Amino acid sequence: MPALARNADGDELLFIHDSDGELFCDFGHLSYREGDYILLPRGTMWRLETKTRTVTLLIEATNGAYKLPERGLLGPHAVFDPAVLDTPKLDDQFRTQANEREWKVEVKRRGALSTITYPFNPLDAVGWKGNLSALRLNWRDIRPVMSHRYHIPPSVHATFVADRFVICTFVPRPIESDPGALKVPFFHSNDDYDEAIFYHAGEFFSRDNIRPGMMTWHPNGFTHGPHPKAFAAGAKATRTMTDEVAVMIDARDPLDMAEAAEGTEDRSYADSWKAR
Ligand SMILES: [Fe+2]
Repeated sequence: MPALARNADGDELLFIHDSDGELFCDFGHLSYREGDYILLPRGTMWRLETKTRTVTLLIEATNGAYKLPERGLLGPHAVFDPAVLDTPKLDDQFRTQANEREWKVEVKRRGALSTITYPFNPLDAVGWKGNLSALRLNWRDIRPVMSHRYHIPPSVHATFVADRFVICTFVPRPIESDPGALKVPFFHSNDDYDEAIFYHAGEFFSRDNIRPGMMTWHPNGFTHGPHPKAFAAGAKATRTMTDEVAVMIDARDPLDMAEAAEGTEDRSYADSWKAR
């Protein structure tokens, strides 16, 4: 039986790591590709239709909602023009996927799943009004802020904010060019946040042992900074651009690792700061 998802616990954010396909939801249809964020408001029924396997990062704002960050002095068109936000359309593809077959909706509430069965496809809206919608944003539309003299803290790369965490996107940008500027991230112990980073594409300029599709997790209080080889490469300043694309989740509350993830953990990660 075809199935839809609905998260009643909070907003959801997908980041498409690989592949492309079609999203169908209460608000209509949109096509997605790698590098897209898709924001789904709490309670949205949705499904992905894809010819090949889609790999995504799913970030849930449990008991909360996503907002765009305040841009302050940078103005409302930083760091992307709000006009690039794409919304689903009630188009022919949406209309033709509606049918009278039996569909089920898997609803998540307080972490538990319940199933609602319909004798038809409930994605059958004929119109909607208002400013609540699913949204699509590709990292290629993000225009990063940087300084040639000053390594700007990562908060400038904030893309979405929720009640107790923030999502930042690192996109290709020039590396600081001033001879006295720090060209790699500060050494720090993130005393206010747990940091999780998902590596999407490119070469990660502060890491020398990370490949696309991997995640790092630096718990609050874990002192870290550039890896030795990356620090040496940064100091030489032979590169003028970084081509990394990564998604960072900075959470006020401590993160826990799920059982399924424990089997994939690289337990030697902390050793990667040792000079080799
Ligand atoms: Fe960090």
